Amino acid sequence: MKQPAPHLLSEFQWGGLTAKNRVVMSPMTRGRAGATMTANSMMAQYYAQRASAGVIITEGTFVSQEAVGWNHAPGIWTDQQGDAWKQVVHAVHEKEGTPIFLQLWHTGRASHSDFHNGSLPVAPSPIRHEGDAIHTPSGHKKPHEIPRALKTDEIPRLVEDYRKAAERAKFAGFDGVEIHSANGYLLDEFLQSKTNHRTDQYGGSVENRFRLLREILDACQKVFDASRIGVRISPNGSFNDMGSPDFRETFLYAAEQLNKVPLAWLDVLDGLAFGFHELGEPITLSDIRGVYRGRLMANCGYDREQAEKVIKDGLADFVAFGRPYLSNPDLVERFANGWELNDVAPQRVWYSRGAQGYIDFPTYRESGPKGVSTSR
Ligand SMILES: Cc1cc2nc3c(=O)[nH]c(=O)nc-3n(C[C@H](O)[C@H](O)[C@H](O)COP(=O)(O)O)c2cc1C
Repeated sequence: MKQPAPHLLSEFQWGGLTAKNRVVMSPMTRGRAGATMTANSMMAQYYAQRASAGVIITEGTFVSQEAVGWNHAPGIWTDQQGDAWKQVVHAVHEKEGTPIFLQLWHTGRASHSDFHNGSLPVAPSPIRHEGDAIHTPSGHKKPHEIPRALKTDEIPRLVEDYRKAAERAKFAGFDGVEIHSANGYLLDEFLQSKTNHRTDQYGGSVENRFRLLREILDACQKVFDASRIGVRISPNGSFNDMGSPDFRETFLYAAEQLNKVPLAWLDVLDGLAFGFHELGEPITLSDIRGVYRGRLMANCGYDREQAEKVIKDGLADFVAFGRPYLSNPDLVERFANGWELNDVAPQRVWYSRGAQGYIDFPTYRESGPKGVSTSR
């Protein structure tokens, strides 16, 4: 019998998991984990409020102390931090059985020595981030520093940090992990020629620049089946002072290589709504589809109609929504019923402290079309 054509709200099954729709909550750092960088009950409530998503990907979560580079974002480098995530996983699973993946994060050169008792942030090469100043733990913004290049013999330890973080995520009950290789953080810095000037086996050719991601992927597969590991890339992005002249060659090579592993998904920020480097024609989903036949997740600037289209056209299996999820916990219900969305949350609450602008956005059923958070 002919299968009905997939659409945004149709179910999707893979790797023993069921997403009740193709709407994914995109990973979003919210800075609510406190100075100990530990998941808490408020975070559990926030994610459970959004459990009608087909899949939830958590905010970026530090794989090690060295990976830290954002105030009050969560970590998973200690057993205590790992255990604290159990309440989040439990709340989401209990509410709607929604698959939830933890995003593994290392901020690389986009960090500051103030996060590391004066030790410089690490990167593939000593090339400074020339973008906006960074919020340091003191509360002051400071310019970025020239990072310290990781030594070749430090790489096995780095890979092991990711494996251990994946192991803790599994122990906490996560359905899988997403490896954050986007937005100018460490793994993106290794991939891109702008930030990777190494002369060892991790730099130079595109094959070499891809090597670290491949090793981390291999290490995570010792913990999770490949179908439970997602990878995120941002080929068109300028965020964190990124963009390389050979971006097409680099990212099409990476996508083609990732095709060899039956990943949960390749999550591509194909849209330009988070900053575009303008170094050539942007890489489109069709470009990626040309070299990658696995499960694909589209992201960046999508609305419901655009999301429906890429799914209908077979260009994506999932669409991740970021900013709409900040202020619309019931985004799926709003899509399903044609209800209007709340305005995007003001930027000042994205990373602020406490419940305001975090868990106080009403659903449509609670407030009707005029719903606003108490943060306005
Ligand atoms: C407040 C905020 C925090 C974010 N934090 C992360 C993060 O931790 N990891 C990540 O990969 N992307 C992060 N992003 C990017 C989003 O996942 C998404 O790619 C971006 O917002 C574009 O999608 P949208 O147009 O639907 O918002 C963040 C975006 C926002 C607005």
